[in-house]
Amino acid sequence: MIHPTLSSLRTFLHLLAISIWLGGQIVLAGVVPSLRRSNPDALTNIAKGYAKIAWPAMFVIVLTGVWGLSETNVGERSSAYMFTLALKMLLVASAVTATLIHSYGTSKLSKGLGGAIGLLATLFAAYCGVLLAHVG
Ligand code: HEM
Repeated sequence: MIHPTLSSLRTFLHLLAISIWLGGQIVLAGVVPSLRRSNPDALTNIAKGYAKIAWPAMFVIVLTGVWGLSETNVGERSSAYMFTLALKMLLVASAVTATLIHSYGTSKLSKGLGGAIGLLATLFAAYCGVLLAHVG
């Protein structure tokens, strides 16, 4: 068997936390429309339950991301790598901001736009992550 390494554990934790943050949002997007009609009270509880595990997951994403960066010799990377990294950081900041607006906003606009931008920004950040890890 291939020997496990600390950096493989770091990537595993980065991806595990991403699966919680991103997978949870995709599942929510799928069940929210029908639940809103049939059981709005359950919707509030599900959203609260998601937030309880999603924010600690985001903490792990940032922690393992910073850890990954600290293992990379950023000075030796190409300008394309640096641009992708900067774009990814912008997307992560947008995803967090939009998700906060979604959670604390009360209008339909803040709920809808915050949720959609949060999900899209996370998806693009994930793709930038794949570019950094496998192409750059
Ligand atoms: C919404 C938040 C984030 C998502 C969805 C995300 C997603 C990903 C994905 C899918 C990968 C590829 C992993 C692989 O296939 O090996 C990756 C790699 C990476 N991510 Fe993130 N990431 C996020 C936040 C962050 C943050 C905040 C940082 C740094 C502060 C970061 C730094 C990195 C680095 C340096 C890599 C490449 C090296 C490595 O694998 O450790 N990420 N990310």
